[in-house]
Amino acid sequence: MSTDKAQTWVYAEDYIPEHEVLLAARDAAVEVGAAPVSTGIGATLRMLAAVSGARAVLEIGTGAGVSALWLLDGMPADGVLTTIDHEVEFHKHARRAFTAAKISPQRTRLIAGRALDVLPRMAARAYDMLVIDGDVLEAPQYLDHAVRVLRPGGVVAFVHALWHDQVADPARRDPETVVCRELVRFLSTSEDFIPSLLPVGDGLLVAVKR
Ligand SMILES: C[S@@+](CC[C@H](N)C(=O)[O-])C[C@H]1O[C@@H](n2cnc3c(N)ncnc32)[C@H](O)[C@@H]1O
Repeated sequence: MSTDKAQTWVYAEDYIPEHEVLLAARDAAVEVGAAPVSTGIGATLRMLAAVSGARAVLEIGTGAGVSALWLLDGMPADGVLTTIDHEVEFHKHARRAFTAAKISPQRTRLIAGRALDVLPRMAARAYDMLVIDGDVLEAPQYLDHAVRVLRPGGVVAFVHALWHDQVADPARRDPETVVCRELVRFLSTSEDFIPSLLPVGDGLLVAVKR
């Protein structure tokens, strides 16, 4: 890879600067160990929420709320983000960030629980967008739910799709890398989705439900 390419990626990642509340949420996330999405992924999620006019977004993996803040900024003013995390402590940080960003409490629904216990309770065809940033090893099951909960034309976005730059290297065979690689491959031929793999941040696999 050329030095120019590395410089270009850094430039693209930093293209949209984060405001004070986002930076504070990012600091809190790093402090508690809830790895936040990169700035480039956040900006891309915001753009996807905006372009799809997403009024109902479902997120797996709230963390301290960094991706949630980006999503809410791209959604219409009456849009509602439902976000799932099994760490109640992380939800406290996310709530604090939403308050600091002056987001009305009606716009967020935080569900504490394990994703695979919660997802079956989510209504079918009720969501415009699903963001997957929970347990990587469970991602294939999350994707099964995506087919059910997304409306036709809805968008699924899988964060960490290129898993620490290991997915592109066939010699890397740890469980997380293999799951990400198989999911990327599966979506490339799926008849249910129109996919695109974006090399932003740690990789963002985006697909529109047919
Ligand atoms: C990478 S962090 C999410 C970061 C967040 N999206 C952000 O940008 O700030 C992953 C989150 O998924 C949560 N998580 C992991 N496994 C989970 C599961 N099985 N069910 C629900 N949440 C889970 C973790 O507690 C953690 O907060």
